[in-house]
Amino acid sequence: MTLSRRDLLALAVAMPGFSWLARAPLPTRSEAPMPSAPGPEDEPAWERIANEFVIDGIHLNTGTVGASPLAVLQATIQHMRAFERMIGQEAVDVPALKKELESFLGAWPGSIAILRNTTEAMNVAANGIALEPGDEILSTTHEHIGGRCCWELLAKRRGVVYRTFAPPLDPRNDDDVIQAWQANVTPRTKVLSISHVLFSTGLLQPVQALVRWARGRGIISVIDGAHPPGMLVNDLASVDADFYATSTHKWLLGPKGTGLLVVRPDRMATTWPLIGSGDWAAEDIRRFEHVGTSNDSLLAGLRAAVAFQQGIGREAIERRARSLATGLDSALRGIPRVKVFSPSRVSHRTAMVAFQLDGVSAEKLQGILGQARIRTRRIAESGLEYLRLSTHLYTLPRDLDRTLEILRTTARG
Ligand SMILES: Cc1ncc(COP(=O)(O)O)c(C=O)c1O
Repeated sequence: MTLSRRDLLALAVAMPGFSWLARAPLPTRSEAPMPSAPGPEDEPAWERIANEFVIDGIHLNTGTVGASPLAVLQATIQHMRAFERMIGQEAVDVPALKKELESFLGAWPGSIAILRNTTEAMNVAANGIALEPGDEILSTTHEHIGGRCCWELLAKRRGVVYRTFAPPLDPRNDDDVIQAWQANVTPRTKVLSISHVLFSTGLLQPVQALVRWARGRGIISVIDGAHPPGMLVNDLASVDADFYATSTHKWLLGPKGTGLLVVRPDRMATTWPLIGSGDWAAEDIRRFEHVGTSNDSLLAGLRAAVAFQQGIGREAIERRARSLATGLDSALRGIPRVKVFSPSRVSHRTAMVAFQLDGVSAEKLQGILGQARIRTRRIAESGLEYLRLSTHLYTLPRDLDRTLEILRTTARG
C-alpha cells in the first residue's frame, strides 16, 4: 500500500505517540554560546546544553540510541535538501571527517572505515579473519546480539566454536576481569571478542591489557566498542586492538545508521573485505567501506556530531555522564528491594546502571516509567532481567529525581 503525503500527515495527527517533531519545524537554536568544558556540577551549563535537544520526555536509553542535537539534525537535513537539487551538489569532505574522527577517537591515521553500525562492523571483522573449523572465539555470556551473532553465524556455517563464560560483574580490580578471560582461553582460541563496556550492566573491561596479553599469544582481538565513543575519552591507538567496532549513533549522538570499524594498520591487507565493491582489492581501509551508493547526508550530520562534542569537551562529557550515573547508582541502592547489578566501584562503572526491583518485573517497571514518558532499556537477553538507565550530557538531575521518585513509589507498592 502506498500512502500519499496527505495520508501520512493524517496518520501523524491521529497517532497519539507521534512526536510534535514529526509535524513542527525544528526549533531555532539559542543565541547563547555553548559552554566549553563545564564542570560536572555546573547545572546552568548543562541546562544550556540540554536545550540543544528536541527530546520529548526523559531519555535514559542512550545505550541503545542517542538523541542528536539540533546542529546534527540541521546539518543532515540541509545536506539532504541540497542533494536533491541534483545540480551543483556539494560533496561531504570525507577526508576531513576521517581526520576529525581520528582525533576524537585517538585512532591511527587511515584506520577508520565508516559503516552503518557496530553490528555491521563486527560482521566485517568476523568474516574478514581467516578462521578454520574448530578455531575458537572466546567471549562472555553478556554480549549484545550486535557483537555475538556474527560469531554464531560463523559457527553454524563454518564450524568455528563460539565459547562464552560468565564475566565477574563486580570485580575488585582489573586483574579479576583479566584472570577470568585468561582462565577460559584454550590452545584453540584464535580470537577474543570483548565488549569494551558490557551492554547489560555498563561494566568497563580492561581492554588494553587484554589486547596486549592476547597478542603475546598470537590471539586476535575484536572489540565490540558500541558504547565508549562519546561516553568515555578514547585513545584507540593505545588500546591497540586488531579491530574496534562502534556505533556513532549512540553516545556520539550522530545520525542513526552510522558506525565505524577501526582496523589496526598491519591487519588491513590480510583481512578479507565483506562486500565485493569498487575498492575491495585496495590494501588499505577503503576495502572495508566501499558498499556502493550510500547516504552522504548522514556523514554531514556525523561531522556536526563530532564538532558538537569536541566543543563541549570529551573529558567534561565523560565526567558529567559518569558522575550522574554514580549518583543514580547510590540512590538506587538506597531503595528497598532494589538490587543493582552494575559495578559497585567507580573505576569499573560507566554511564549505565542496571538493576532489579524485587517483585516487579523489568518489563512492568519499564511500562510504569514509559507512562511517565521516561525511556529506558529492559535487558532480557541471555536469561537476564534488568532495567538499564543511561545518563548522558542531556540528562539533568531533575530527570533522575523524577525517575527515582517513581521507582520509590513503586517499591513502596
Ligand atoms: C555492546 C553492544 N554491541 C552492539 C550493539 C549493536 O549496536 P547497533 O545496533 O548500533 O549495531 C549494541 C546496541 O545496543 C550494544 O550495546
